[in-house]
Amino acid sequence: MIPVILSVFGTRPEAVKMCPLVREIARRPGLQGLVCVTAQHRQMLDQVLDAFNVAPDFDLGLMRPGQTPATLTADILSAMGRVLEKTRPDLVLVHGDTTTSFAAALAAFYHRAPVGHVEAGLRSFNPSSPYPEEMNRRLTSRIASLHFAPTCENRCNLTAEGIAQGVFVTGNTVIDALQAIVRPDYTFNSPALRALDLANRRTLLLTAHRRENLGQPLRQIFQAVRDLALAHPDVQVVYPLHMNPAVAEPAREALGNIPGVHLLPPLDVCDMHNLMARCTLVLTDSGGLQEEAPALGKPVLVLRTETERPEAVRAGTARLAGVLTQDIYRETERLLCDPVAYAAMAHAVNPYGDGTASQKICDAIETYFGRTVSEPEPPMATAVSEGILA
Ligand code: UD1
Ligand code: UDP
Repeated sequence: MIPVILSVFGTRPEAVKMCPLVREIARRPGLQGLVCVTAQHRQMLDQVLDAFNVAPDFDLGLMRPGQTPATLTADILSAMGRVLEKTRPDLVLVHGDTTTSFAAALAAFYHRAPVGHVEAGLRSFNPSSPYPEEMNRRLTSRIASLHFAPTCENRCNLTAEGIAQGVFVTGNTVIDALQAIVRPDYTFNSPALRALDLANRRTLLLTAHRRENLGQPLRQIFQAVRDLALAHPDVQVVYPLHMNPAVAEPAREALGNIPGVHLLPPLDVCDMHNLMARCTLVLTDSGGLQEEAPALGKPVLVLRTETERPEAVRAGTARLAGVLTQDIYRETERLLCDPVAYAAMAHAVNPYGDGTASQKICDAIETYFGRTVSEPEPPMATAVSEGILA
């Protein structure tokens, strides 16, 4: 009997990191893969599915304007129940820390299906930040039988919580995605990106969307960006907006008419990764960008006060800039004006794996089902690459 592996995801970041794994499962004759999307995100999820050419077997279509973690959790629990009854999977794979991740894991538990947690063991140690993601990942860890930890440090976090069985250090599948996508001869799909002079003009890539940054912190971030753009007319800012109206509306209000600031709709992942590979530096509160930019040799200023991804901070390519206007302005200006400070951060460091995370996860899954595949070797935890474009 070939084990049935049901991969469940719903948001853009989960899709970016699960699609390489879905494709690896499909390549393995020893595994039968099925995909269920909750569509917690609709347009931003579909952009990624299209880029990776992944067609879900089940699409729950659950996104609602103004959805809350509570309403979405309830919807996922009931809709997933029907999929689990029908498919009776031998393993359910969930990713990371979203409402989809936790609710799908809980639904699997209620149907007595074992759960594998991809990107396990990240911890900020603060249940309020990121909110509600820190609690989602802790609760998912309690449910999961298999834990695919990107780094050795993530494994240690699990060990400290008494989770020692079924833990594999695999690297992060986001590096698999980057390696498949970033190309030196890439042509952008977005006409707005094609119109930008990325070769001769320094470019700040900005993203911001975290729930705990909504409201005043976002306004402070936007004020810093506005001040920077006005003080440095030679620098351009590219800001692909998140579709959450609580992000996009204040962003348009604060930055809509500032020369040199380009507010764009969400970029497809191929454009996004290739833009990142060509920008000067990244300002972000995103989790995924904190992993991608270091692999591409781009300094990252993290628009938060703590991070569950300390590896890049320790390696010197990421820095916590916080959410205060003057701090963000100062840290960004330092990198723009001081070539030594810039060079110290702009080296490619890849603590998140070597692009073989999906293979390692599939090897571990096959081993779990009693097939003779060698146990995955941990990736080089601090391997330094030359940057994918370099
Ligand atoms: C979610 C995740 C967060 C992740 C982020 C990635 C949780 C608790 N949070 O937060 O960890 O970093 O996704 O982007 O799961 N919307 C659209 N179209 C889309 C996507 C979103 O219109 O394609 C709008 C909808 O109005 C939706 C709102 O954005 O209600 C918020 O989406 P939601 O997934 O609830 O929260 P995020 O803040 O995106
Ligand atoms: N991303 C994208 N288009 C965009 C912005 C982000 O494809 O316009 C990609 C980004 O490169 C990363 C993922 O989406 O792979 C991160 O998603 P997001 O920032 O929404 O969520 P987080 O990582 O914070 O959970």
